[in-house]
Amino acid sequence: MAFISGKTSWVAFNGGILMGFVTAFFLLRVMTEYGETQKPLEIRSWKNNLHDYLLSHNAHSHFSGNSSVNNDLFRKVRVLCWIMTGPTNLDTKAIHLKYSWTRHCNVVLFMSSVDNKTFPTIGLGTKEGRDQLYWKTIRAFQYVHKHYFNQADWFFKADDDTYVVVDNLRWMLSNYTPEQPIYFGKRFKPFAKQGYMSGGAGYVLSKEALKRFVEGFHSGVCAHTTSVEDLALGQCMEKMGVVAGDSRDTEKRETFHPFTPDYHLTGHFSKSFWYWSYCFYPIVEGPQCCSDLAISFHYVNPELMHTLEYFTYHLRPYGYQYRYQPPLPENANRLPVHTQEETVVQEKTMRPNGTVSLKT
Ligand SMILES: *[C@@H]1O[C@H](CO)[C@@H](O)[C@H](O)[C@H]1NC(C)=O
Ligand SMILES: *[C@@H]1O[C@H](CO)[C@@H](O)[C@H](O)[C@H]1NC(C)=O
Repeated sequence: MAFISGKTSWVAFNGGILMGFVTAFFLLRVMTEYGETQKPLEIRSWKNNLHDYLLSHNAHSHFSGNSSVNNDLFRKVRVLCWIMTGPTNLDTKAIHLKYSWTRHCNVVLFMSSVDNKTFPTIGLGTKEGRDQLYWKTIRAFQYVHKHYFNQADWFFKADDDTYVVVDNLRWMLSNYTPEQPIYFGKRFKPFAKQGYMSGGAGYVLSKEALKRFVEGFHSGVCAHTTSVEDLALGQCMEKMGVVAGDSRDTEKRETFHPFTPDYHLTGHFSKSFWYWSYCFYPIVEGPQCCSDLAISFHYVNPELMHTLEYFTYHLRPYGYQYRYQPPLPENANRLPVHTQEETVVQEKTMRPNGTVSLKT
């Protein structure tokens, strides 16, 4: 064993610590500077002219595929999408939905606490904040029921950080009819017999389910029992006899996802994560997590939102164009085809006409 005098080791020790600090300081500086120069450059290209940037990068309309199948389903399975947002999120989050996936919906409505005629948003006359979420949802569905009931067959609620592949949603829904009392989403199991749909991944109500939800509040069967919005809605659905549907694909892979794709695909959920006890269906980690016809992902920031839009509507492996066209369900043949006028609601008719009053 080598012998070092007390003094030498003291100098070596402290010298070592000093060197450590100096190295750490420079490393940190380099990393921070790298971060600072990298990130804002990216953001700046949006900030300079957000509208032009978003328009030029997402030039597709809802008829993007322009295939007869896509066109046909657009007119058979009419989807109204309403986005839960707030005044401070319009230019940071909601705008990215406005110029990406929501353009594939038949009707798009941005729901906020207050009107904004420019964006536009519909003011629901609520306050902002997490504890207001269920009030917002109740009023949003009442508004939609009052003003848009005949203009869609299905009514989809999403957050302003949800990404949705609307065409895959239509394909899944084409196996059902809007007259069925049913709703779909990422199904959780606790607190309700049939479970409930987790809010972040979005959920979709049939026309009949929407009707029953509104009736539930009218008759007093449902009430604002808790601000836990998704659970409260699920409990009301159950009371009103609306079925919690199974939205998994034919290979039992899920379509609604409560996290970003990387979480599901690379599967690093820790064993103690609450998620394990919440999921209604067995959790599959890794590539089988997610359907090829996936419908939604949550916690999607603006960068990822545009990335997913590109992966979904632009990027194709050369030569594979027919691979993702599974046959339509038999049921799709029986669905009525709506006319062009019935299917697309232009922005000018989406302007809010004041706040809605709540009847309980
Ligand atoms: C889309 O398809 C229709 C025929 O169904 C055709 O008339 C039209 O030109 C097509 N549009 C584009 C942009 O390819
Ligand atoms: C309304 O929306 C526009 C566009 O997003 C935004 O720039 C503006 O600040 C909003 N107005 C209010 C009063 O929030």
